[in-house]
Amino acid sequence: MCGIVGYIGGEQAAPFLLTGLQKLEYRGYDSAGVAVYNGTGIHVVKSKGRLSVLDGILQGGEKLPGVVGIGHTRWATHGAPSDVNSHPQVSDGGKFAVVHNGIIENYLELKNHLLRRGIEFVSDTDTEVVAQLLEYYYRGDVLEAISRVTARVEGSYALGIICADCPEKVFAVRKDSPLIVGLGQGENFIASDIPAILSKTRDICRLHDKEIAVLEKDGVQFFNSDMELVEKPVERVQWDVAAAEKGGYEHFMMKEICEQPEALRKTISPRIREGKIVLDDMKLTKEQIEKINKVFIVACGTSYHVGVVAKYAFEKLLKVPMEVDVASEFRYREPILDENTLVIIISQSGETADTLAALREAKKRGARVLSIVNVVGSTIANESDDVLYTWAGPEIAVASTKAYSTQLAVIYLIVLYMAQELGHSPQAEMEAYLEDLQRLPDLAAACLADKKTIQYFASKYFNARDMYFIGRNVDYAASLEASLKLKEISYIHSEAYTGGELKHGPISLLEDGTLVIAICTYGRLFDKMMSNVREVKARGAVVLGITTRDKEESLSQQTDYQFCIPKITDFMLPSLSIIPLQLFAYYVASMKGCDIDKPRNLAKSVTVE
Ligand code: AGP
Repeated sequence: MCGIVGYIGGEQAAPFLLTGLQKLEYRGYDSAGVAVYNGTGIHVVKSKGRLSVLDGILQGGEKLPGVVGIGHTRWATHGAPSDVNSHPQVSDGGKFAVVHNGIIENYLELKNHLLRRGIEFVSDTDTEVVAQLLEYYYRGDVLEAISRVTARVEGSYALGIICADCPEKVFAVRKDSPLIVGLGQGENFIASDIPAILSKTRDICRLHDKEIAVLEKDGVQFFNSDMELVEKPVERVQWDVAAAEKGGYEHFMMKEICEQPEALRKTISPRIREGKIVLDDMKLTKEQIEKINKVFIVACGTSYHVGVVAKYAFEKLLKVPMEVDVASEFRYREPILDENTLVIIISQSGETADTLAALREAKKRGARVLSIVNVVGSTIANESDDVLYTWAGPEIAVASTKAYSTQLAVIYLIVLYMAQELGHSPQAEMEAYLEDLQRLPDLAAACLADKKTIQYFASKYFNARDMYFIGRNVDYAASLEASLKLKEISYIHSEAYTGGELKHGPISLLEDGTLVIAICTYGRLFDKMMSNVREVKARGAVVLGITTRDKEESLSQQTDYQFCIPKITDFMLPSLSIIPLQLFAYYVASMKGCDIDKPRNLAKSVTVE
């Protein structure tokens, strides 16, 4: 997620903007910039790369005098990282400078509207559309222009705005992306997150959707979407600075687990319009889709586990043969590919060495490559024929959570898009799938609501030596990811098995008190899983069962503990069942005192073989 800061007061703006942005660096970014009104007009300095590059250019801010300004650290979503795509973005006539966090879903339509009216654009960003639209609507009243812009744009935004005609004001407005106003003495601030202003003030007001803040040196006015003045409560922040960087969470991992509903919303909603899946970035044509005779999914770690889920969805809806492979194997095994093979590469970082090598191997053998990536402009993204981004925002914790969830969401979008293009599935079935996909963020939030049950269970078993996860079909796919989460942050030995495999060897591992987590959400094989539960309990195992709410009664008669998730389309079940299991891994590791965000021996992006 991008970082936003703004300042108006008696001090120089640039030094505060730089230090404020430094406090937001933890959010992850690929470029940074500031805009300051310097007495004659708006002066913008911005660059790709680290904040230190900008700091060097500005010499700590001295090079950019002025007492009104906005600043930004960009996590690219639309438009690769570059100087010109960095924020602030400026309108054609130079009247408006804008910084933005979020996604303008209808930016292409608005951009074309403005291009047809002779307005020239310089960047590939959705944010520039906001700056140009402000100037397009501006007739001397900035508030009026902002109101008209927010009536036109769709999507999520937190906007900091300055106008060359109003050098004594900073404007801010938001929808779905957080934005706060900091209240100082003779100075006022805006920021996307508390850490940026904590050194200046602990008194903040949180903007609500569509509210506009107008900051002046000695006061702030708030307007609702009807342009009526409103009073806002002032909140006194009690956090210390270290806690604030994690949004008040103790670890980035918990913060990112809890961000999943929002990350899912940002990834899914721009891609479903008027009952259709719309993948603007997909260049794969209907004719090419019809010719696909095989699909590979290639990835590492958690991203590979997404591929295991995807296999069930692809084969169920598209009836196309699919192979899922870890990149470190795929790259050396001389896979059989041709121009009608689609290779889907999945990578959060877009830089994993084995995955990049697999991509190059696939292209060398003539396959078409579609990648699912979280980091815009990363190497894997740049070398793919098609790339679909998971708009999850930066994932800081080594243990992947929201990337897994949003990668799954993009898989569902791809499968449903192809089914839509091929016309294989009955309309009613497609509508049901789309409805479930749109419900997914709220259902994920519902799974997050009950942390206590998981925390209690973790408190009883965090000293376990071994744990086993079992499941069938999509539940087996989820058990692979659940087992990896536990292993990598708690260092407890854990395995994942298909329920049907236990009797072929692994069941010999079970002893009195061995912990088994049985994922039984896939209804068609629920009874089979109950047989497996009885099998392991007969060997002394303690069992936590995960199932859908309609099966709770049956499950509670067989297992020692239960956690229930809402029902959803079968191949979407892992998106929900993984949430209690991410929490379980987190609480176990926390109770063991492990370094949750930076587990031993692991890196966030494995850029070596
Ligand atoms: C997941 O929690 C791990 N951090 C690791 O398995 C990770 O998924 C793997 O290294 C792949 O990374 P990528 O998605 O960035 O390619």
